[in-house]
Amino acid sequence: MKGFLLRCVFLWTMLPRSNMQSAVPATVLNCCEGDVLILLDSSGSIANYEFSRLLRFAGELFQPFSLGRGHVRVGLLQVGTKPNLVFGLDDHSSQESLQKAMQHVSHLQGDTNTVAALGVAQQLLTENVPKILLWMTDGVQPGDVDEPMTKLKAQGVSVLIVSTIHGNYQVLQRAVTPPLESHLYSVDIDNIEIITEDLREAIIKIIRAERLRVVHLTSHSAVLQWRPVLSADNGYYELWYNSMSDTDPVTRRTVSGDSSWVELTNLQPDTTYTASLRPESNQRLFNTLSVNFTTLPDVLSPSVVSVSDSGPHQIRVSWGPLQPARVLRYTLEYGVIPSGRVQTVTLHGQKNSTVLRGLEPGTQYLVTVSALHKNGREIAMSVKACTQEAALPALTDLRLTPVERQEVQVTWQANQEGLKGYWLSWERENSHMSSSKSSCLSVPYFTFDTAHTPCPEQPSVCVSSLQFRPGRRVMLHSRESLRFQPQGLTDCSRVCSKKHG
Ligand SMILES: *[C@@H]1O[C@H](CO)[C@@H](O)[C@H](O)[C@H]1NC(C)=O
Ligand SMILES: *[C@@H]1O[C@H](CO)[C@@H](O)[C@H](O)[C@H]1NC(C)=O
Repeated sequence: MKGFLLRCVFLWTMLPRSNMQSAVPATVLNCCEGDVLILLDSSGSIANYEFSRLLRFAGELFQPFSLGRGHVRVGLLQVGTKPNLVFGLDDHSSQESLQKAMQHVSHLQGDTNTVAALGVAQQLLTENVPKILLWMTDGVQPGDVDEPMTKLKAQGVSVLIVSTIHGNYQVLQRAVTPPLESHLYSVDIDNIEIITEDLREAIIKIIRAERLRVVHLTSHSAVLQWRPVLSADNGYYELWYNSMSDTDPVTRRTVSGDSSWVELTNLQPDTTYTASLRPESNQRLFNTLSVNFTTLPDVLSPSVVSVSDSGPHQIRVSWGPLQPARVLRYTLEYGVIPSGRVQTVTLHGQKNSTVLRGLEPGTQYLVTVSALHKNGREIAMSVKACTQEAALPALTDLRLTPVERQEVQVTWQANQEGLKGYWLSWERENSHMSSSKSSCLSVPYFTFDTAHTPCPEQPSVCVSSLQFRPGRRVMLHSRESLRFQPQGLTDCSRVCSKKHG
């Protein structure tokens, strides 16, 4: 015990205060998976001041960890006359809520009934992950903890102890899980921060995730991931896997030492496999990691059929998943519902969409996509699809209204969105001269008058209700003949200057 105490004294006199809260490497965050139960002595023998220092210390200790299932779960159990579970292992999955909870723990006072609390701990630390009991105590009369501690350790729990200096060392020494140097700390409460990093490292060593995980699964493949323990030049991984059926031979592979994941392909759907990974290095011996997983049930194309881009005379039919290695060809059958003639299109197995043309507008069709698989199976799926109503001409309802003797108002209806301007031309009907005239319109209201029209000898035309929508060329006859051709603005000015320039 003396040597141990000396070590601590030595440490805290050597360390400058400013170093005590050193930055924690970000790599710590997702390093670990395990359960840590803090067993906090909250009896009357602990001073209030000590109690709050211990809590602050515990908060800092766990600050860098990702919390929650699959990461680190932290619980807090108080020792008093009766045990008090402040929060359980599943209560805090964010640092914010854990730290807040740590700040609001009240001091129980009363006796140090550690044995009763250990009984609760035994029931809490049962999951099949690395488990730690972090006992924080003043070490004064903890009761007969030998037997419950032995039980806990037999249950796979590592016992780590932080004791303020007056503790009964023999008891603590028997309770702690070896090695003592990193698992048992006796410190002066005023300098407790000096052990934060060492203790955290000891915890990380225990709960460092040593697991082979399945991170992605399909019907024919699986991606396995693990925490890297080698590098390219100091070893490699030996991987082997097979389905759990006895007849399946084991597949073996070596994986480079700098890898942390591998994809297993060509697996059978809906089958349970077992995979193992052993890091091979001549510097250290590593445990073999194993995992069992079941591939997803098979998906046979087509499992999805959809319709898009439908127009009055066509629809696009798409399907998936694309399985070019497994599908020989697709056949599409389509006909008007309920009793139209059925037409058929055959497509290569590499296609996953096609456009059906020559359809009736505003009509409902039944479309069936069937795939002939290389193994002889035929899978079919149907959808109903409607063609659009026949489209209206883009520009309709052209009207000419005489306004004054020399003026006529032109209005029309546009049936499409998005156009920036129109091209307008007019001519005198009974003229024998070539007198066709035109102009660009790019504002919603436009009036020609004799002064500004490109051809002053022509009757002026007043255009109103001009809507900025696209359309297509229409020709309507009235007293004047007018042609409308919608244009984009830039096109429009180009056309104008060409015509009149
Ligand atoms: C995988 O399944 C086998 C047989 O059920 C079992 O013995 C083994 O412990 C399992 N391995 C893991 C990692 O769960
Ligand atoms: C069709 O195949 C292409 C690749 O060839 C893919 O990008 C697209 O998502 C597929 N469409 C469907 C509906 O599966």
